Amino acid sequence: MSSPATGPVLATENLLTDNPALYEKTFPDTGARNARFVHDLVTEFATGSAGTAPRLLDVGSGTGRDAARLAELGYDVSAVDISPRMVAYARATYPGVDFTVGDARRVRTVEPVEVLTCLGSTLLHLHSSVDVVTALSGFAACLRPGGLLVLEMRNGAFLLTDRGRRELLDEVSVRDIEWEGVAYTSRTALSLDLAAQLLRRRRVWTWAGGGPVTQDTAWRLLFPEELRYLLHSSGFETLALFDEPGPLAGSAWSADAVRSSALTGDRLHVVARRRALSGAR
Ligand SMILES: C[S@@+](CC[C@H](N)C(=O)[O-])C[C@H]1O[C@@H](n2cnc3c(N)ncnc32)[C@H](O)[C@@H]1O
Repeated sequence: MSSPATGPVLATENLLTDNPALYEKTFPDTGARNARFVHDLVTEFATGSAGTAPRLLDVGSGTGRDAARLAELGYDVSAVDISPRMVAYARATYPGVDFTVGDARRVRTVEPVEVLTCLGSTLLHLHSSVDVVTALSGFAACLRPGGLLVLEMRNGAFLLTDRGRRELLDEVSVRDIEWEGVAYTSRTALSLDLAAQLLRRRRVWTWAGGGPVTQDTAWRLLFPEELRYLLHSSGFETLALFDEPGPLAGSAWSADAVRSSALTGDRLHVVARRRALSGAR
């Protein structure tokens, strides 16, 4: 990666997670949509008494907006993200929520939680199956028996469709962003690494008098039946797996809408229950 003489902060490999305000500007308003999605699914699938505020852990909390909106909906929320900059921003912006720097593969809670959320493809930043199972098993350990896991992420199977390959692989997407008086342009290209089962992204940033800054990242491609198996191996029973509707899906989230289990769309949505018997794998 080349370094700019002046310009946005680059502490790690990701300009957006290094600059949380820029992240929120680039991806506006998922907080309310994600929180409504989670709350509707928890309302539908939760069992047990609802006496006190349900404890909820959000893993990969980013700028903290999903956690903050979930707290507004009545959850007792704590949140973890691996990026110290994201956590610092979230703490300053939403002081009512407990944000901690941590890795999805090592999350622990003092008390078991009723709900654990991992949204926005955070799980797919773990590239090996061992890491995915380590994270999911840790999530199970954080949940009370019967507690719910809600996942939202890219759908690996979308790339098996003509539309998926066309939309994701055939085009370079160009985005212009005005931020703190500077006009930035990003050019993003995706490619497949079949041997590693990864979707790789190369994003090149330029701005007046600055750049180019090249940033590479990748998401694990998880396929629906593989995900069911990994969840089962980690102590979960899959209750719902659908591609539409959803907070980032083509059709906007609505609790009443018919859910598609064709799984040809670009997002995967999962509700899974922690199984009661820890030995029942
Ligand atoms: C695309 S953002 C999603 C943020 C938020 N959940 C949302 O849906 O808008 C992915 C987040 O995952 C975090 N992340 C990546 N790898 C992680 C890991 N191993 N453990 C915890 N967080 C991780 C990143 O720092 C980033 O904030």
